[in-house]
Amino acid sequence: SIGPVATIDIVNKVISPDGFSRDAVLASGVFPGPIISGNKGDNFKLTVVDQLTDTNMDTATSIHWHGLFQHSTNYADGPAFVTQCPIVPGNSFLYDFTVPDQAGTYWYHSHFHNQYCDGLRGAIVIYDPDDPHASLYDVDNDETVITLSDWYHYYSPLAPPVPIPASGLINGVGRYIGGPNTPLSVVNVVKGTRYRLRIAQIACDPSFTFSIDDHQFTIIEADGQNVQPLLVDNIEIFVGQRYSVVLNANQPVNNYWIRALPSTLLQVPTTAGGQNCAILRYSGAPAVEPTTSGTTNLPMVETNLHPLTSPTAPGKPVPGGADVNYQFDVLSLGVAFLINGVTFLPPSVPVLLQILSGASSAASLLPQGSIYSANQGQVVELVIPGGAFGGPHPVHLHGHTFSVVRSAGNASYNFVNPVKRDVVSIGNLGDAVTIRWTADNPGPWFFHCHIDWHLNQGFAAVFAEDVAQVPSIDGDVSAAWSQLCPQYNAHLNL
Ligand code: C2O
Repeated sequence: SIGPVATIDIVNKVISPDGFSRDAVLASGVFPGPIISGNKGDNFKLTVVDQLTDTNMDTATSIHWHGLFQHSTNYADGPAFVTQCPIVPGNSFLYDFTVPDQAGTYWYHSHFHNQYCDGLRGAIVIYDPDDPHASLYDVDNDETVITLSDWYHYYSPLAPPVPIPASGLINGVGRYIGGPNTPLSVVNVVKGTRYRLRIAQIACDPSFTFSIDDHQFTIIEADGQNVQPLLVDNIEIFVGQRYSVVLNANQPVNNYWIRALPSTLLQVPTTAGGQNCAILRYSGAPAVEPTTSGTTNLPMVETNLHPLTSPTAPGKPVPGGADVNYQFDVLSLGVAFLINGVTFLPPSVPVLLQILSGASSAASLLPQGSIYSANQGQVVELVIPGGAFGGPHPVHLHGHTFSVVRSAGNASYNFVNPVKRDVVSIGNLGDAVTIRWTADNPGPWFFHCHIDWHLNQGFAAVFAEDVAQVPSIDGDVSAAWSQLCPQYNAHLNL
């Protein structure tokens, strides 16, 4: 892994994670990108250098550090045209931010067009020297990070309107139907040892149901939030979500399938040896593929997840009991998505630049119809009915975690101890999700479906939080911006 102070070169390179070779867009030349790790309290200085040359794909870039709050450093959040201009080839940008009060499992990805589907994605681990769950596990390191992703055999700019992944990958390797029997990822364990597995779902589209044959495991973290331990044997993990689970290697010495079965219909899950599998190998077991079969009967239910501390949702304990109450009605028309009748189109001037150039109210920000506002300290409630085409949609809010006071598939509310997270599935037709958070982080924060194809089909909006209090940027950042945004210099009135 790389530490909190690092240079990350974004490069093109041909890779064949599932046996099919194609050019990709990669952080430091590897897929997934290197794990970025640090401790709670660290200052991260990540210099991203754009060395891209393959014009079959996007050559500009921008990186988002998914789940980190970026309190007072909104400019380092990364979404192109929301908080910055994309980095263009030959240029670099320094993402300089601290992580004072967060620990857990996060990830990073390109936030420019659909570029992360071409490879630019990886895990972030923030260790907590005072982890309240520390007594529950023995091992927690780079080897126990597990990424789940999808992979495509075409370049994202050439993807059809409804892209279908060719394969699912665990820790960056997998197999596709009709492809060769390429090596699968092996997670090595020692019998009698307890492992903190940090599972990061970094796909562009499918959810994955994660399980390990003949093993149960205990969830202790969801999206960077410690939760009360919950024993399960499978979890449906949506794009963008993360979990830490404690796996006790207490079964007979053997090889066991680790499974991540995708939701995408055209991908046929395998029962053994094929795609979307990895190998759990006990020390002493032969280096062969498992022959185990999977049965699961203890799925994770989101309403059974409860925060370890400060569990209460903000606002009054009744639906609509926030200071600002919004509803997002999502429609799909052809392949365009609309929120309350509006398709998100990236503005030509990034929203943050509009704010720093003097836009004094959310109402004057572009893109019109896609900006929602909240003032400092207000509790925001957002209701999102499920059911739009291509779902269930996992929605993500930057700059915050939110309390899921009504989960998909539930009629009832929980204001007392609902899970807090930063991505939630809004479910299917007839479902409705309700989330709550407190506007305590001035800045424009992107909100979108984390099926990356849908984001770029307009399933997005911006919460412009306390526009008047957005911190100004320092000279180094504005110098970097005038480099990256020459055409916008007229708007920079700093
Ligand atoms: Cu992980 Cu706006 O995204």
